[in-house]
Amino acid sequence: MSLLKVEKLGKSYNADAKVLNDVSFEVEAGEFVSIIGPSGAGKSTLLRCINRMVEIDEGKVIFDGNDVGSLNKKELRKMRTNIGMIFQHYNLVPRLSVIENVLHGRFGYKTTVQGILGKFTEDEKEQAFYLLKKLGIEEHAYKRCDQLSGGQQQRVGIARSLIQEPKIVLCDEPIASLDPNASKVIMDYLKSITMELNITCIVNLHQVEIARSYSDRIIGLSKGGIVFDGPSYRLSTDSTDLIYGTKTVEKRQLVTV
Ligand SMILES: Nc1ncnc2c1ncn2[C@@H]1O[C@H](COP(=O)(O)OP(=O)(O)OP(=O)(O)O)[C@@H](O)[C@H]1O
Ligand SMILES: [Mg+2]
Repeated sequence: MSLLKVEKLGKSYNADAKVLNDVSFEVEAGEFVSIIGPSGAGKSTLLRCINRMVEIDEGKVIFDGNDVGSLNKKELRKMRTNIGMIFQHYNLVPRLSVIENVLHGRFGYKTTVQGILGKFTEDEKEQAFYLLKKLGIEEHAYKRCDQLSGGQQQRVGIARSLIQEPKIVLCDEPIASLDPNASKVIMDYLKSITMELNITCIVNLHQVEIARSYSDRIIGLSKGGIVFDGPSYRLSTDSTDLIYGTKTVEKRQLVTV
């Protein structure tokens, strides 16, 4: 059984426009998948449906054996501990320290009171330092996050998602606010650390070349539908034309390779 199965997924935010339509794919444990497509194609919506940050209208998302759409609040909270999230704008608490932000990744395992009091075990603190060291920012552990560069903040975001011990991390444009050098650093870390910890990774990206060089597989979204799904090396100019609509395509067809 695959780790993630998306089956005929459909989503609209309002009645007259379907943002995702009949989206189906499966992701195996350990895969590194990029989702590319023009602005508005539905990439962020697709990630949000996977952990049900938005409600699923049609079809199903099966994650780790759970039918995500049918989980109650408690079950959903439990499932989300297995899903790490990484965002374009890092979503850190700027006035808190790096280490505190990383430990926030453990909130899903805490009671509300433990969370409010910031009660973390020695093991959790050790793990936080281990991850910061792995990501090359251990020396910044006690600095406030707003004193860090964008690339360093994103590394805090990665550590926060990994301390959850997730089975999958969903990354929504993790490098969209970074310069090319910092982007490469982030992608290198993301790739190596998820490989080492055997964590599945789905990354929404705008940069086709980066998607091609880092991912095992690319899914191309256009106007809410999948128009390419295959190994990165099979992504041809024709496929990118189809995804980005840079050439007139008579009839939208699925390119499966
Ligand atoms: N909360 C919302 N309410 C209403 N419409 C929304 C909402 N979020 C997204 N949309 C619409 O859904 C469509 C898909 O948006 P989405 O953010 O998923 O695209 P995207 O591929 O991530 O784009 P980008 O590359 O710009 O991030 C867009 O037309 C957008 O305007
Ligand atoms: Mg988006």
